[in-house]
Amino acid sequence: MYQVTKAVFPVGGMGTRFLPATKAMPKEMLPIVDKPLIQYAVEEAVAAGITDMIFIIGRSKRAIPDHFDKAYELEAELEARGKTGLLGLVRNIVPSHVNCIYIRQAEALGLGHAVLCAKPVVNNEPFAVILADDLIDAKQPAMKQMTDLFNYYQCSVLGVMDVAADETSSYGIVATQPMTSELGKIERIVEKPKPADAPSTLGVVGRYILTPRIFNHLENIPYGAGGELQLTDAIARLLHEQQVLAYRFEGIRYDCGSKIGYLKATVEQALQHPELADEFRAYLRNFCI
Ligand code: UTP
Repeated sequence: MYQVTKAVFPVGGMGTRFLPATKAMPKEMLPIVDKPLIQYAVEEAVAAGITDMIFIIGRSKRAIPDHFDKAYELEAELEARGKTGLLGLVRNIVPSHVNCIYIRQAEALGLGHAVLCAKPVVNNEPFAVILADDLIDAKQPAMKQMTDLFNYYQCSVLGVMDVAADETSSYGIVATQPMTSELGKIERIVEKPKPADAPSTLGVVGRYILTPRIFNHLENIPYGAGGELQLTDAIARLLHEQQVLAYRFEGIRYDCGSKIGYLKATVEQALQHPELADEFRAYLRNFCI
């Protein structure tokens, strides 16, 4: 019986849709209210029992390690000023049993390439992939829902959701043989099909549990559209050898890689924020009439 103990966070993308904000930092450092996207993603992994966080970092490589490292000067300053609440906040960004590992993706050669960069650390184990720009607000964290499924089925699982029929060209789209209302066996996966060519409207979002066999395929597929190594192409090959499940997770997903998704997430999280909710709701009420 395998368990998922490692998560890969590809944070080496260009983030062109958020320039100039992403000129000197990855988009995964954009905050939703007061916490960067990457911290939401790590907290989700921790809640799923994952202990090794593997960040695939790119161009603007310092911000993410700096965020998860100890910040001696800041801590000393907060301590000297007696700001114990804030001190706790910056000290406890990751629990002490969690390891943070950083791998450099020297060139942004695609999501598949970023995942392949994790091979030397993941070795021969199943692992999670979390795209932090897909923020998922759920009663039970989405990755925990997926590791529970993995523990039972012991095979790759992709997080999916129903997408609008005219938006299939923004997603990897799967055709499935349904097992339950939430779960299906994937028969086919197509990267960003036009609506007329899409086999369904079930789109893959940024949560994956993959078996290590995926690395063999990533090493052997050709570079695809835009000179990028596509994770979808490798999954399409994996399907021919192993069962891969599509899981319609419970929760709301925000596409924080797009400006509108980011704004929706910000407003909705602010409306749930213990310090801000009441004042912000009153502000919005006045503002929107
Ligand atoms: P996106 O397709 O959202 O691309 O990447 P992007 O470059 O980050 O953003 P835009 O489209 O230019 O605005 C999907 C995920 O894969 C990661 C990104 O960080 C994001 O989490 N990624 C992508 C890498 O880590 N490396 C890459 O070479 C490409």
